[in-house]
Amino acid sequence: MATQRETWRTHTGMMFAMIGTEVGLGNIWRFPYLCGKYGGGSFLVPYMVLLVGVAIFGMMCEWVIGRSTRREPMGAFQKIGFPFGRDIGAWGVIGPFFLYSYYIVITAWVLFFIVASAAGLYFGENTEDFFLGFLGSKWVFVAHAAAVAFTSLVLSFGVQKGIERACKVMIPSLFVLLIIVAVRSLTLPGAREGVEFYMRPRWAGIANAEAWLAALGQVFFTLSLGMGAMIIYGSYMRKSWGIPLNAFACSFGNTSASILAGFAIFPAAFALNLGGAVEGKEAVGLTFLVLPEVFGTMPAGRLFGGLFFLLLAFGALSSAISIQEPSIAWMKDELRWPRRKSALLTGVVLWLMGLPFVINGFVTHGAAGGSAGIGEKLALLIKMDKVINYLGLPLLALIAILAVGWVMKEKGFAELNRNARIKIGRWVKPWLRYVVPVLVLLVLVANLLEQFFGDTYKELVGAELPGFESVGITPLTVITIIVVCGIVWGGAIGGFLTVVGVERRKAREAQSRGADG
Ligand code: TRP
Repeated sequence: MATQRETWRTHTGMMFAMIGTEVGLGNIWRFPYLCGKYGGGSFLVPYMVLLVGVAIFGMMCEWVIGRSTRREPMGAFQKIGFPFGRDIGAWGVIGPFFLYSYYIVITAWVLFFIVASAAGLYFGENTEDFFLGFLGSKWVFVAHAAAVAFTSLVLSFGVQKGIERACKVMIPSLFVLLIIVAVRSLTLPGAREGVEFYMRPRWAGIANAEAWLAALGQVFFTLSLGMGAMIIYGSYMRKSWGIPLNAFACSFGNTSASILAGFAIFPAAFALNLGGAVEGKEAVGLTFLVLPEVFGTMPAGRLFGGLFFLLLAFGALSSAISIQEPSIAWMKDELRWPRRKSALLTGVVLWLMGLPFVINGFVTHGAAGGSAGIGEKLALLIKMDKVINYLGLPLLALIAILAVGWVMKEKGFAELNRNARIKIGRWVKPWLRYVVPVLVLLVLVANLLEQFFGDTYKELVGAELPGFESVGITPLTVITIIVVCGIVWGGAIGGFLTVVGVERRKAREAQSRGADG
């Protein structure tokens, strides 16, 4: 290769950056809302099954493509010889613009809510009126511009000094804050009802096909797949790091943030008699309407509200960084532009692309104070979220999986297991070639059908969830807590130990034969 390509400086730094791209609004804004909508614990089952069976493999495939080619998505798909590789890879460069454009708008609301919570601005007010008021104020423009400026600035410093350094600060802080808020929530009187709701799977919920569709969209979203981000981040990985274990560690580290977020939200919401508001709420409602109500009523709510939105901001900003990076990498690799220039240009374009969402919220005059107001103000944003998640992400993720299974073949499988401490057996071939694509395709088609024949479809499969009756914690709930937390935190701790182990091994290797590219 002609030029020296950037890589992650340390393994730990890479892990933080990876978890930084993964943990974000998806964990704290989307995951709890989906849990609320699809019956709490019932949603955990499809989520975990699809995470382990499908999404982790998607992640490994994107890393394989990135690391073996050391290119941005367009160059990567071309280099592995995928038919129409450049055109297909272009989605990995262009797609993120659309994702970023609305993602950063929500991030901007989060920034505003840090201040609003710490200052107690919405305390004692109707939180919906407050949120509508904010959407119609000049502050939403200020927050939006600040968020875009922040990610562009970090990216202008590059992979090691920008992304890696920022994530090393933001991600550990995020976990610490999340644990503090979860402990607060779990220790509120009456919290157990929320735990019961969150951790007790109900068959009617698990059998709901729609929940499986939503779960598939969610596992792709939460692992940052299908947008080129993981291809790029994988291209900065060193060849001496094994892919499979790192993929497991990152996935479970990410899921532990989601699980914690649920523990931070549901117990508090139910303790403060807002359980009804949690179930079946739209995503936006949960984080920006219900939670402020929770903070407004709970003891030391300003502190905990401020901390909660601060941690959410860390997650959202570190994710937004990864969504902006593919286009910058493309300009660097293909146009040979300096990083600063690319960061500035993408920043301006992304700011402009976000404006329609901001303006949509700013100008629409809904029925005064009614919930229609929010629906109208967020119409554009919610549509974009649906298109991206139900169609965009699964499609490119599927292509990446097909690329490894059918185009790279033996080369891909070899790259997957290269230098891996725990290698994946031969079963991975049929799994990647047939099982995963068929599953993704099924869901993709089902989603398409839903988009076009939504109502009919709902009649066919979407049995309404039975009402939630709250009782004390059942044995099943306890079992679920043990199983879910065991898997997730066991995975995360295992991942952490791997980090330490790999660092040591790397140091040893570096001593004996010098660094590699
Ligand atoms: N995973 C992030 C979250 O949960 C969002 C995200 C970052 C993302 N980069 C991505 C989603 C790339 C899809 C593709 O908030």
